[in-house]
Amino acid sequence: MSAGPGRRPLVAGNWKMHKTIGEAEAFIQALLPRVSAGAHAEVAICPPFLALPAMVDSARGSRVQVYAQNMHQEQAGAFTGEVSPAMLVEAGAHGVVLGHSERREMFGESDKALALKLPAALAAGLVPVLCVGETEQEREAGETERKLRRQVQEDLAQVETERLGEVVIAYEPIWAIGTGQVATVEEAQEAIAFIRALVADRSGEEAERARVLYGGSVKAENAAELLAEPDVDGALVGGASLDPESFAAIVEAAG
Ligand code: 13P
Repeated sequence: MSAGPGRRPLVAGNWKMHKTIGEAEAFIQALLPRVSAGAHAEVAICPPFLALPAMVDSARGSRVQVYAQNMHQEQAGAFTGEVSPAMLVEAGAHGVVLGHSERREMFGESDKALALKLPAALAAGLVPVLCVGETEQEREAGETERKLRRQVQEDLAQVETERLGEVVIAYEPIWAIGTGQVATVEEAQEAIAFIRALVADRSGEEAERARVLYGGSVKAENAAELLAEPDVDGALVGGASLDPESFAAIVEAAG
């Protein structure tokens, strides 16, 4: 475990569209005894919307926080199928994942919408976890930095400079998501240091505060070496977060 000075590591499990309320309950009951209370790293699970209140209830008083997976930027309105910041806060969510590549690729999530969602989450008191990352094609074409620069600059454009440090950014190379093809520690460290430098273009102080996570095929077996890199402040975990034992092992690796 490392994370830079003053940055508390965060390990978050993004369940995507997995687990009914009943399954989520069974998971949390199995997880809680496996994550020691006094440890340093923060732990979050991101269940589907419907399981949020039950997870908040079950995790109350524990080390585990509950985040949502998406959010609309408006407080209320004619936006069928959407969920507002106020609704997430009322449900007890601590934060929200924004701009996951699955939402960008399959559901048309745009940088323009994300530029509104980021400040809306902060205004509501939610910790935003902004996901960015390149496709395999973009990496092979040498366009990784260009893609990351565009996403980070556009999506954070309307976040006040003095609040940039409150944003969590997750570097999730799309070619590593759900493929078992994890980025090398060097690739993860390099991209994450680049992301931090992009934040530093606006404020060096805020860049030192902002946590940048790695996501993409993180498993109990590879978590420790990824988390040992100086700029890697935690992990956003998909598949391996669905099993309490493997998720707890990743949490353990974060310290
Ligand atoms: P996997 O850990 O299943 O590769 O998913 C990563 C991810 O998309 C987390 O948001």
